[in-house]
Amino acid sequence: MSSTLFRTKNVEQSILDTEEPEHALKKSLSALDLTVFGVGVIIGTGIFVLTGTVARNNAGPAVALAFVAAGVVCALAALCYAEFASTVPVAGSAYTFSYASLGELPAWIIGWDLVLEFALGTAVVAVGWSGYVASLMDNAGWHLPDALGSRDGADGFGFDILAAALVLVLTAILVIGTKLSARVTAIVVAIKLVVVLTVIIAGSFFIHGDNYDPFIPKAQTVDAGGSLQAPLIQLMFGWAPSNFGVMGIFTAASVVFFAFIGFDVVATAAEETKNPQRDMPRGILGSLLICTTLYVAVSIVVTGMQHYSKLSITAPLADAFKATGHPWFAGFISFGAAVGLTTVCMILLLGQTRVFFAMSRDGLLPRFFSQVHPRFKTPHRPTILLGGLIAILAGFTPLSELAELVNIGTLFAFVVVAIGVIVLRRTRPDLPRSFRTPWVPFLPIVSVLASLWLMINLPAETWLRFAGWMVVGFVVYFLYGRSHSRLGRHEETTEAEVHRRPGPDGTA
Ligand code: ALA
Repeated sequence: MSSTLFRTKNVEQSILDTEEPEHALKKSLSALDLTVFGVGVIIGTGIFVLTGTVARNNAGPAVALAFVAAGVVCALAALCYAEFASTVPVAGSAYTFSYASLGELPAWIIGWDLVLEFALGTAVVAVGWSGYVASLMDNAGWHLPDALGSRDGADGFGFDILAAALVLVLTAILVIGTKLSARVTAIVVAIKLVVVLTVIIAGSFFIHGDNYDPFIPKAQTVDAGGSLQAPLIQLMFGWAPSNFGVMGIFTAASVVFFAFIGFDVVATAAEETKNPQRDMPRGILGSLLICTTLYVAVSIVVTGMQHYSKLSITAPLADAFKATGHPWFAGFISFGAAVGLTTVCMILLLGQTRVFFAMSRDGLLPRFFSQVHPRFKTPHRPTILLGGLIAILAGFTPLSELAELVNIGTLFAFVVVAIGVIVLRRTRPDLPRSFRTPWVPFLPIVSVLASLWLMINLPAETWLRFAGWMVVGFVVYFLYGRSHSRLGRHEETTEAEVHRRPGPDGTA
């Protein structure tokens, strides 16, 4: 039994599968498309919303250091992702990578985990978008009834109509085709970059040096005493739960990590890339570098404009301009944020459908989902199914804690990918790798430790929710995936043929 759980899909077979015409995606993306894709999905709710929350609650002006810490963890993981993506250029990202290196069960776990990351990530961003749009509508004097607004902090029954509508419109765009959505993405990414650069350049004229004092506020004990809301590490070591100080920077890093999610999505588009061997590493590392630099600059400027204790937790970038008496800038930033979050949402949704598509093509989920549309050449069935489910989720759910769940799922995927790099170097040293992670196995091991470090800085209750999702995944795998796996069936057929073949004496 353990041998079937760890059966691996051979890398050449993974690449061959993508060439079956019924199940093939169009190869149309370049390195520039991928970088635009990356920046398009990376800059979003993390910098536009979470910066204010963590500066105020966890780190003060040192939130800039939290971005550096999270950025380092991502850069280490990116170096592992880039090797895998350039070796196994097939839809499905970490899922495909682990199927080729670690085996079917680990691949299932990671695929299931990525579905969580992308589905909840899409919902988180859709709700963030709905908040910005609602605030712009308020400026224009249009007010949505409470029951149709964001569920965050709202009482009673309601449905966030804007968030759900956004997800449905994006689903339709994705069904029509990646190329169209890449073009739309490029325009929106440009708007988003202009807004971020405006915050940095215009905001730097309104900085007051006093706001940086103290840069790392002193640690403060909080009253969470042993509750599940405290970071796991504080519970593990029996420390009194605290905010700020040096540990506060790491708590903040484990939250603002959300701001970096998305570079791994670039890897999910490998199969649709013209020259994945060359373009994939460029796309991943390039977009990560651009975003890290912008995040650090934005957080330094914003915490310099307004004292961290006064930053807004819903629209910190715009409100910092209001606080310094520049409402025109605030309106412009809110508008850009609303536009920018659209692409984030769209690309997370795209990544989500591609993982589901890859799992279905392998037979771990019903094969019905992996037939591409005859005209649009897109995996329309999972796109429609998942788009519908996420729209409902985004409509009904308050999302503040879900961002942490997304983070733990993504960090877990990083751990598996880094281990996968080491394993595949040993089991398949012969494979051509256009990008090689430096200092293997040292760098992947550091990447694993760094990801685990951020994971244990997340609240204990996030760990419990994550464990719950994974248990459901195991049940689905053992009830469906294991017996329907194409790889498993292929192995059974080959074995049966070996038995049927006549022996030297003519017996079967
Ligand atoms: N990194 C993306 C964001 O911050 C998911 O919204």
